[in-house]
Amino acid sequence: MEISTSILSVKEEESAHTFYRLELAHTDYYHIDVMDGEFVENNTTERMKMYSDHLKNITNIPLDIHLMVKDVKKYVDIFSPNEPRCITFHLEVVKNKEEVMELINYIKQFSKVGISIKPGTKVEDVYEYLPFIHTVLVMTVEPGKGGQALIPGTIEKIKQLKKYITENNLDTEIEADGGINLDNIKELSQAGVDIAVVGTSLIKAKDYKYTINKLKELSD
Ligand code: DX5
Ligand code: ZN
Repeated sequence: MEISTSILSVKEEESAHTFYRLELAHTDYYHIDVMDGEFVENNTTERMKMYSDHLKNITNIPLDIHLMVKDVKKYVDIFSPNEPRCITFHLEVVKNKEEVMELINYIKQFSKVGISIKPGTKVEDVYEYLPFIHTVLVMTVEPGKGGQALIPGTIEKIKQLKKYITENNLDTEIEADGGINLDNIKELSQAGVDIAVVGTSLIKAKDYKYTINKLKELSD
């Protein structure tokens, strides 16, 4: 299991030190939660742009960009210069298949591409795109803020998605995002998750190295 640490809850004044501690603890990715204040209520664009620019300058650990935005292309253009590993947009913001395919091809110019689905969105809705994308980001909380509890029903969705991917010989990664911690990571791993986004439960931990190692130990 790879760990993508959400830095949403990191305070600006502590950010340099926190990012450094996360690098020493070998987070696999930094998960950048971009919120435009339209698709979700919060607006984090300025702070996440500042954090991404800073991380680009101080580390080689890849950025995992999660766009919770309506105007996807606008934010792809803002964040692609930081050469992220993957840029993920929400299926719920596009109206039809043509638009989804256009965004997939647009993002592919810069990075891997992911599609994210909210807890209320059926996994079947993403099946037709699986051959064209690298990652499905399954939200295990309602997008918009950190520190929420994982919604148990979303684990069934992950199992269903994993079954479809396996049965169709696809190699699409499954990333889960929201409310993940030491108590539920094993169940998520068994359900088929390849990358776990961990925010609050890691950022508030005293020892990042111990916590990331424990998360990996419990999920391998
Ligand atoms: C929520 C974000 C998540 C969140 C994860 O909208 O997409 O990445 O920050 O943080 P925790 O682990 O605190 O739920
Ligand atoms: Zn996220």
